[in-house]
Amino acid sequence: MARGKLYYGDNLDWMKQWPDESVDLVYLDPPFNSKASYNILWEKEARNGAPAQVLAFEDTWHWVNPRTRSSQAAERNFDAALAVGGQLARYMQAMMQLHGPCGLLAYLAHLAPRLAEMHRLLKPTGSIYLHCDPSAGYYIRTLLDAIFGPKNFRNEIVWCYAGPSFVKRWFPRKHDTILFYAKSDEAFFDLPLAEHKSGLHNKGTVFGKRDGDEAAVRKREAEGKSLEDWWTDIGAGGHMPRKERLGYPTQKPEALLRRILQASSREGDMVLDPYCGCGTTIHVAEQLGRNYMGVDITHYAIEIIEFRFRSKLLMPPPPVEGRPADLGGARELFARSPFQFEAWAIGRCGAGRIQPNERKVGDRGIDGRAYFADGSERHLLVAQVKGGRNIGPGAVRDLKGVMQRENAKLGILIGMERSITKGVARELSAGSVQVGRESYPKLQYWSMEDYFEGGRPRLPALIGRHERDQVTMEHGGAD
Ligand SMILES: C[S@@+](CC[C@H](N)C(=O)[O-])C[C@H]1O[C@@H](n2cnc3c(N)ncnc32)[C@H](O)[C@@H]1O
Repeated sequence: MARGKLYYGDNLDWMKQWPDESVDLVYLDPPFNSKASYNILWEKEARNGAPAQVLAFEDTWHWVNPRTRSSQAAERNFDAALAVGGQLARYMQAMMQLHGPCGLLAYLAHLAPRLAEMHRLLKPTGSIYLHCDPSAGYYIRTLLDAIFGPKNFRNEIVWCYAGPSFVKRWFPRKHDTILFYAKSDEAFFDLPLAEHKSGLHNKGTVFGKRDGDEAAVRKREAEGKSLEDWWTDIGAGGHMPRKERLGYPTQKPEALLRRILQASSREGDMVLDPYCGCGTTIHVAEQLGRNYMGVDITHYAIEIIEFRFRSKLLMPPPPVEGRPADLGGARELFARSPFQFEAWAIGRCGAGRIQPNERKVGDRGIDGRAYFADGSERHLLVAQVKGGRNIGPGAVRDLKGVMQRENAKLGILIGMERSITKGVARELSAGSVQVGRESYPKLQYWSMEDYFEGGRPRLPALIGRHERDQVTMEHGGAD
């Protein structure tokens, strides 16, 4: 049985529910779009931000959310940070005075109350590792100083990697920064040893004596040297072992997490990754016999972790808390986040083989797409989700238009309630499509109400997105 749990939702909401001093190690790799222009951090956002390409986590670095055109979320985070009081509140006020409401401040305001929770959750023997890149690293470090105290700073680990770069006006930015703080002087730490490179230290001088005991020197060489705070031996992106890659854009290598978990936790310890993405920390924690909690705000990430457990660890995935368990839960999710509802509903349909659209806006009427084979030919299926009540015939006509435009052979409209109007039913009758020996409705309607009562849509075998999308990952560099 899995040694931990996954939690779907905002990590702040989850962490607030957990008891003080219950975690031994936190590793976090919060969203940071290092490929976005650095200037976006400084852009004053009094103007209404233009709708932009939208990833699930984009909102954290805009003071004014480009989609809702509201600064409510940033202000709520900022107020939550002020409510912590003490040094953190003073720090946030000073940053506001200095920079005003900009992307950087939104980002720090997002992190501040969450880091305060992580500090509360850590045991005195615990540690935190925050993974970031050079663009915001300085500011995050001062924020961590305000929460953990500068005396608990342990390392700024520089993780270097290589990869192609087209920049000509500065040096290619090819490292990430991992900020390591202890909760207190009691923090557990087991310094990793690294291999001595042959020829460099074979005269014994490295240990401070030239004429010492050769055998003792050789023994110490064989044991290895203390690992420094710069790591060059772990490949990123395309240099990550192929068998690890899942196609998740910000996936980190297992070797990196293995090193951190082995240095700052013991078997049976509790490891928390509050931004767990495709679950690298969770995977390694499971392998190393740690207990764990992984939180992510997107269903897509949670589903990839489930896939990862089944296909890579060959075991059932950990239980997931916070996923709709009934129609009421589904309605609640829709009310909280229509976009997350879409991704979740798409995941229920087609056994996770329909790829949800990552764009919240500009999706050209497609919320999910999948492919199926008919003989040697591959065909497209498109899905559209309508979580609100009252689906009208217009929605079906729109989907028909999308199918025509995209040359999709099948279409599915996903709604919340089972009952539909006669007008909608009329629009839906679009004939059937033969795939192999079976025939399928060209256009069908399927509801979450059906789902919770065990009803499944009629679809041909879909080509799994993970098998299809094994892509060469880009490195995390900032160019
Ligand atoms: C950079 S990725 C983490 C990648 C991860 N280290 C891995 O190896 O796959 C950041 C993740 O944080 C998630 N996220 C963003 N805001 C969040 C929040 N408030 N609560 C929980 N997860 C969040 C995003 O959905 C994304 O999967």
